[in-house]
Amino acid sequence: EGANVSERFIIALDQGTTSSRALLVDKAGRVRATVQNEFPQIYPQPGWVEHDPRDILATQLGALTELLVSNNLSAADIDSLAITNQRETTIVWDRETGQPVYNAIVWQCRRTAPQMEEMAADEQLTQTIVEKTGLVPDAYFSASKIKWILDNVEGAREAAEAGRLAFGTVDTWLLWTLTRGAVHATDPTNASRTLLFNIHTMEWDPFLLELFGVPASMLPEVRPSAGFFGETATDALVPGVPICGIAGDQQAALFGQCCFSPGQAKNTYGTGCFLLMHTGTTPCRSSHNLITTIAASAPGAPGPEYALEGSVFMGGALMQWIRDGLGLLEDVAESSAIARSVPDNGGVVIVPAFTGMGAPYWDGAARGIICGLTRGTTSAHIVRAALEALAFQVHDLVRAMEADAPLPLSVLNVDGGASANDFLMQFQSDVLRCRLHRPQNCETTAMGAAYLAGLATGFWESTAELEALRSGDDVYHPGLEDARHAVLLERWNRAVGRCLYRP
Ligand code: G3P
Repeated sequence: EGANVSERFIIALDQGTTSSRALLVDKAGRVRATVQNEFPQIYPQPGWVEHDPRDILATQLGALTELLVSNNLSAADIDSLAITNQRETTIVWDRETGQPVYNAIVWQCRRTAPQMEEMAADEQLTQTIVEKTGLVPDAYFSASKIKWILDNVEGAREAAEAGRLAFGTVDTWLLWTLTRGAVHATDPTNASRTLLFNIHTMEWDPFLLELFGVPASMLPEVRPSAGFFGETATDALVPGVPICGIAGDQQAALFGQCCFSPGQAKNTYGTGCFLLMHTGTTPCRSSHNLITTIAASAPGAPGPEYALEGSVFMGGALMQWIRDGLGLLEDVAESSAIARSVPDNGGVVIVPAFTGMGAPYWDGAARGIICGLTRGTTSAHIVRAALEALAFQVHDLVRAMEADAPLPLSVLNVDGGASANDFLMQFQSDVLRCRLHRPQNCETTAMGAAYLAGLATGFWESTAELEALRSGDDVYHPGLEDARHAVLLERWNRAVGRCLYRP
């Protein structure tokens, strides 16, 4: 169906780790058109990952332009723009020239790991950092990446101290460019991933700025996720369009899944998995190595809202390895049917600790294993065990969250590529013993950003209206009998115990 004359839309810009996308969202909450552009990954050394900030811009603005042109849209058709982004990725640029002083250092980049490990060895300092930020000292977050740029790019520290440099996560870089340098701002969900933001006071923390040697003048202003950030500049392709929603991609997906209340959770099955549970206005401190982060709030929220977050490193990446490393699959999409071709896993368990075990174990020295092999083992058992391993890892995160929160999970909302895998979803429901809901519209990240902008402008009235837009979820009900459930989990736990270096 085409756009009618008076119809207006929200455009969500979804700037991810491997591609930049622009999505056209209508008032019924449907995605009417999508443009996606991939861009190069830069690996200067083993363990280092960079993006060229100009590639990010070119692909993101290119996607926006193509979306506008191919749908014959002008500024008058657009209610507002929303931005959602890969988080933690760090860009430093010159305020006068608008040029980045270095490539974007991507969230996956481990170049500052040695310094951060040293910091993490100081228990008292670690406690202070956890208390203030909800995070742990780790190279994943932005702070040590900013420090690296200031320490290693010639002249950068002096320029930063003279107030000439600006720091931003990707949302901030896009916002600054779209407004032609008029607005240097971010939102609390992105700020909460920098290791510089105090999630209780909702301000940049002077102690942490000092610790990482980051001048306060570099930092963006932190504004609510749903609200007016600025307008596209007059010489932009669509001038005068308000930018009214910003959130980091995982928090945007939580919002896009309509997880607005404590205990509601979502899991995104991507290359890795990101599980977030809303915990309301209380920042829950984890005793199971999860992190505390800020959730995106609807306009008018009385105060900050929080979420617990845990991630699985090997999600879809495990299935890629089964396909490319072992050659057991032609196409990952076959895995559901292959898993179902055997009645059970035949005793085979895979623990995919390829790069160590993440939450709740946190053992960087752990390595993967396949155990329980017999003469009867076939490749179908191994494929099945791989899918089951994804579900077991998510199970362990959920149980840790329930213990930390403490809120029981009655429903898990799912999205991401592997959420299309029927066997995996049923098994996930079985091991979690809870219902799974998969929305018809799986673009939850873009939807979350669009919802934030649309609530801010009045395009949508309320979160209740957003909930009502959602219908026709695929629902999975747990079906596994108790005895079988106990055996499977017992085998998984034993296998995890075997692969940990620090049991
Ligand atoms: O924390 C990293 C996360 O925000 C990246 O998400 O989907 O761009 O890989 P994605």
